[in-house]
Amino acid sequence: MNRTSGIIRAIGAATPLVMLIGTAPSGCDRLPGKPPPYPPPVVSASTPAGFKTTWTDRCSGCHGADGALGAGLPMRNGEYLMAVPEDTMFSIIRDGIPSSRMPGFGGDAIGGLDDEVIRSFVEGMRSAWGDAGAAGVSRGIPWKVDAGDGDPTRGASLFAAKCASCHPSDEPANRAVDPNPDPLVAGSVTDPFYLRLVSDQHLHSNIVFGRADLGMPGAAGPFRGPDGRTVEGTLDAGDVADLVAYLGAGRSSLPSGPEVKDGAP
Ligand code: HEC
Ligand code: HEC
Repeated sequence: MNRTSGIIRAIGAATPLVMLIGTAPSGCDRLPGKPPPYPPPVVSASTPAGFKTTWTDRCSGCHGADGALGAGLPMRNGEYLMAVPEDTMFSIIRDGIPSSRMPGFGGDAIGGLDDEVIRSFVEGMRSAWGDAGAAGVSRGIPWKVDAGDGDPTRGASLFAAKCASCHPSDEPANRAVDPNPDPLVAGSVTDPFYLRLVSDQHLHSNIVFGRADLGMPGAAGPFRGPDGRTVEGTLDAGDVADLVAYLGAGRSSLPSGPEVKDGAP
């Protein structure tokens, strides 16, 4: 008998014992094909550590590692967090935002968080980041979008006067070939393919609260004129509604197809 077959026989002899030891204590939790357990939900999500674990597991990939600099709206923004009613924040996290890329985290799905955990997570997030960022950026404009009462024509001229030089419609295609890219110039927000991916609420939240992490002003300004110079001035709730109406209308320049429209409940 050579060495290898000796090892194989030894393993063979031990296998029933290993199987017995391996299966007996875990019982039905280890059925073949059952996915490994998701990290157990942190019940104490309202504590700084518990909150952070859940944030890292569930939110950081889209909303940024430390609550900022992600693709989605930063949550490390006290003014924003306090403007969204606690119950609404709870239902956004539990149910997600219909037809958008914002998933829901509650329910019976594997790894789903129960209501108690989500409530304490919301509490944890508000206590961790409730003071973060500059105050006064939103000028008290409510978080919730006012659906359908904006004037798109007025929105178009506001956009040209205050926004277009940071959001030119041909970006980012031209930026790649620009040897000296302007660091203030951001992506297009008038591209219909972009607009199909985001809701009116997403547009409204970004315009009102800005993105301090990326240089996007909120309703308090300042903005940037067509000549590239800083334009002082502020937006009021009517201006924001007009801007959202103008941008939102850009979705329909594509033939009909899937689109996100209203956003958070
Ligand atoms: C797969 C990416 C993804 C993950 C993961 C994710 N989000 Fe989102 N979230 C989005 C997108 C995209 C939107 C914008 C949807 C829209 O167009 O209205 C959004 C929107 C939101 C909004 C509403 C913003 C507003 O004012 O319009 C909140 C609040 C939010 N997310 C919180 C969270 C929290 C908290 C977590 C973790 C528990 C999380 N998200 C995980 C992608 C994600
Ligand atoms: C100083 C430059 C600047 C000005 C002025 C500015 N933005 Fe922005 N904006 C940004 C940057 C930077 C971002 C982050 C996203 C990016 O880099 O493309 C952003 C993000 C946004 C987004 C969210 C994009 C997303 O991630 O889904 C919207 C919507 C938006 N801006 C609309 C506006 C509107 C409307 C105005 C005028 C009232 C405006 N912006 C003025 C720089 C600016």
